[in-house]
Amino acid sequence: MRSYRIAAIPGDGIGTEVIAAGLRALAVCSERDGGFRLAVDHFDWGSDYYKAHGRMMPENGRDQIRHHDAIFFGAVGAPDVPDHVTLWGLRLAICQPFQQYANVRPTRVLPGITSPLRHVSGPELDWVIVRENSEGEYAGVGGRVHKGFPHETATDVAMFTRTGVTRIMRYAFGLARSRPRKRLTVVTKSNAQRHAMVMWDEIAAEVAAEFPDVDCDKMLVDAMTMRMVMRPDSIDTIVATNLHADILSDLAAALAGSLGIAPTGNINPEREFPSMFEPIHGSAFDITGKGIANPVATFWSGAMMLEHLGERDAAARLMRAIERVTADPRLHTPDLGGTATTAQVTDAVCEALLGDN
Ligand code: NAI
Ligand code: MG
Repeated sequence: MRSYRIAAIPGDGIGTEVIAAGLRALAVCSERDGGFRLAVDHFDWGSDYYKAHGRMMPENGRDQIRHHDAIFFGAVGAPDVPDHVTLWGLRLAICQPFQQYANVRPTRVLPGITSPLRHVSGPELDWVIVRENSEGEYAGVGGRVHKGFPHETATDVAMFTRTGVTRIMRYAFGLARSRPRKRLTVVTKSNAQRHAMVMWDEIAAEVAAEFPDVDCDKMLVDAMTMRMVMRPDSIDTIVATNLHADILSDLAAALAGSLGIAPTGNINPEREFPSMFEPIHGSAFDITGKGIANPVATFWSGAMMLEHLGERDAAARLMRAIERVTADPRLHTPDLGGTATTAQVTDAVCEALLGDN
């Protein structure tokens, strides 16, 4: 039997609730499939670990998960630890050194879910956002001087490398080519950011020449927000920088119904390191401990993980189970306007998996 080692890092807040739910669904999925098993190792890294040890994960943390087949991640962030400490100490400390440079964010309006867009009934909105995930505005380059004085100065320098931009463009064009519409929108801001974003556009044009069958256009990020709302059916695959795509993907999630359903994969396409799968939402302090977090984003991320591992049938079966459950409004959590709990949704997905032929 095929066997995969999964590193589960639930993290903080609702991260622990949705990862527990996701692991249950994945276990039922592998049982139902019968062809593979998931061996899960649990890591209690996050803000509680930080409060006990002064760091978000052990010094050799990455070594402990370096040889796993994939990472299943919840969320980080606690009300009493600064966000830049939690994010850089755990999530970015994994994504960047593991060269998970392609952050892939599919967005669809699942059956039974209502988009806030009046003119969208479902199929008009079917996108994948590819976010550059290793450099750009989140490269971490910068500093603060004259701390505490009136002339205190702080910089965050956006770093774009030819290697980094070329590889994300190739990935995005390749993904666009694999989808029926073969359409890619390159998001930019080269009118105002006249160095790095101009190089970004130039490299996009160079890579476009390698993919003549992909229909490609270019859009300024501000105009892109308008197009996502006004003409969602004109969009298929999107590639954008770390910051731009971070913002656009929260908008995309909201337009598809809720942040609670939006999944993501942090992919190392060369497979030199494990890739990491997680819901795009954060630790949601406002609903932590209430048992009402929507686990759908985590289930969908689990399906992406199965797909990455090569378990296509199981991934498709899990997606069918998710869609059967979202189709029933009685199984919607409060973020979708319903009253269902995390446990009820999870039970229903597990049942749908067992009933799927
Ligand atoms: P958030 O995503 O945690 O929450 C935003 C809103 O969406 C809240 O009202 C929350 O209740 C709701 N929401 C999110 N996920 C949901 C789900 N599965 N089901 C139902 N409702 C859901 O973003 P926020 O409030 O900006 O950040 C909270 C903390 O999470 C911060 O510390 C932040 O740094 C961290 N964060 C971590 C991320 C990660 O680990 N990947 C991503 C985003 C934020
Ligand atoms: Mg974000």
